[in-house]
Amino acid sequence: MSYSRRSFFQIAGAGAVGSIFVPLVSGRGLEALTLGGRHGDDERTLVPGAIRLNSNENPNGPGKAAFDGISAAFGEANRYPRASEASLRSAIGEAFHLTPAHVQLGCGSTDILRASVYAYTGPDRPLVVASPTFESPGNDAKRIGTPVREVPVTGDLRLDLDAMAAAAHGAGLVYLCNPNNPTSTVHGSEPVRQFVARVSKESPATTILIDEAYHEYVDDPAYATAVPLATEGPRVIVARTFSKVYGLAGMRVGYALAQPGTIQAIGAYTLPNALNELGLCGAMAALTATAHVEQQRMLNRAARAFTVKALADAGFPAADTQANFLMVNLRRDAQPFREACKRDGVLVGRPFPPLGTYCRISIGTMDEMRQGVEVFKRALATA
Ligand SMILES: Cc1ncc(COP(=O)(O)O)c(C=O)c1O
Repeated sequence: MSYSRRSFFQIAGAGAVGSIFVPLVSGRGLEALTLGGRHGDDERTLVPGAIRLNSNENPNGPGKAAFDGISAAFGEANRYPRASEASLRSAIGEAFHLTPAHVQLGCGSTDILRASVYAYTGPDRPLVVASPTFESPGNDAKRIGTPVREVPVTGDLRLDLDAMAAAAHGAGLVYLCNPNNPTSTVHGSEPVRQFVARVSKESPATTILIDEAYHEYVDDPAYATAVPLATEGPRVIVARTFSKVYGLAGMRVGYALAQPGTIQAIGAYTLPNALNELGLCGAMAALTATAHVEQQRMLNRAARAFTVKALADAGFPAADTQANFLMVNLRRDAQPFREACKRDGVLVGRPFPPLGTYCRISIGTMDEMRQGVEVFKRALATA
C-alpha cells in the first residue's frame, strides 16, 4: 500500500511532532514557488494542482515502512546524524555483500555525481557525457573549468558506446547513465562490460561513473547492474538513489558503490553531515521493504505500457523505455506542446537539446496518465 501525503499528515499529526510538522510541510509549496522563480525553470515551478509528469518522481510516494522510519526519526532531530549515516552505510554494504568502506552516501545521488566530477576531472582531465543525458555532471564540470566532451546519442536514442569510448581517451571521467535520462533506453550488461574493458585498456587513467538511478524500472533481461564492475577495479563507480522507485526524492539520499580507495576519493568532496536524520532513517527502512519496490515497479510498468500504447495509437511511438519516463518525438518544436500541456494542467519534461522535437514524459499513476493522454492529444491537435 502506498501512503499519500494526507496519510503522512495523519501519521505525523497523531504523534508528538504533529504540532510542528504540519506548518513546516505546508510551507513547502511556497518554497517551491520561490525556487522556481530563482531558477526561472519550469521544471521546478510548482503549479498548484497540476499533474506532475516532469521530474521522474515516484507518484505514489514512499511505502509505510519508510514513513514509519521518517516519523520515528523526529525524536533524534537534535542530534547530528552520524550514527544513522553509519547504519545506512553498513546496511547498503550488506545488501550488496560489500563493506561500509565500499559505500559513500550523498545528499541525493546528485551529490555523488558532483563529488565524482570534482574528484576525477579538471581543466586537463575532461568529462565525457552523452548528448543528451542528465545535465548535472556536465554542469558541475563546466563550473570548475573542466572541458566537457559531448557524444550524441544514436538515431534510436541509445548511448553511442563506441564513440564514447573513443572520446574517453585522456579524459578524467566518463558519465554513463544507464538507463539514460532523458532518452529512457538501456544497455545490457555485456556491452557495458566491454565498454569498461575498452576504456580501461585504451585510457587506463579514466574513471567511469555509471548512474543507475532508474535501475529498478528496467525490464530488459539483457540488463544487469554494473556493481560487480565497480568492485573489480578502482576505475568504476556506480551511483544509486532513493529518489526514484523508493519514492523518497524529497528526502535526498543517494549513494556510490566502488572500491574503498575510490570511495575515499569521492568522499573527500562531500560535506560532513550533509544528509539529514529523517532521510537517513527513511532510506534505512525503505531498503528492506522489498514488497514496496516490487509494487512500484508493477505500477510503473502498467502505467508506462498504457501511455506508450496510447501515444503509439495517436501516431507518436516512443523510444524503448526502461525507466519511469518516456521520450517521444513529436515531429515539431516541442515547446508549444509543453506550454499547451501546462495550460491544461499537466507538466511535462524540460527541453533536452539537441532533441528539440522530443518531449520527455514522466510516468505518473494510471489515473494521471489517463488524464495526461487526453491532454497530450488535445495539445498535439492544437500545438
Ligand atoms: C539519471 C539521474 N541521476 C541522478 C539524478 C538525481 O537524483 P537524486 O539527486 O534525487 O538522487 C536524477 C534525477 O532525476 C537522474 O535522472
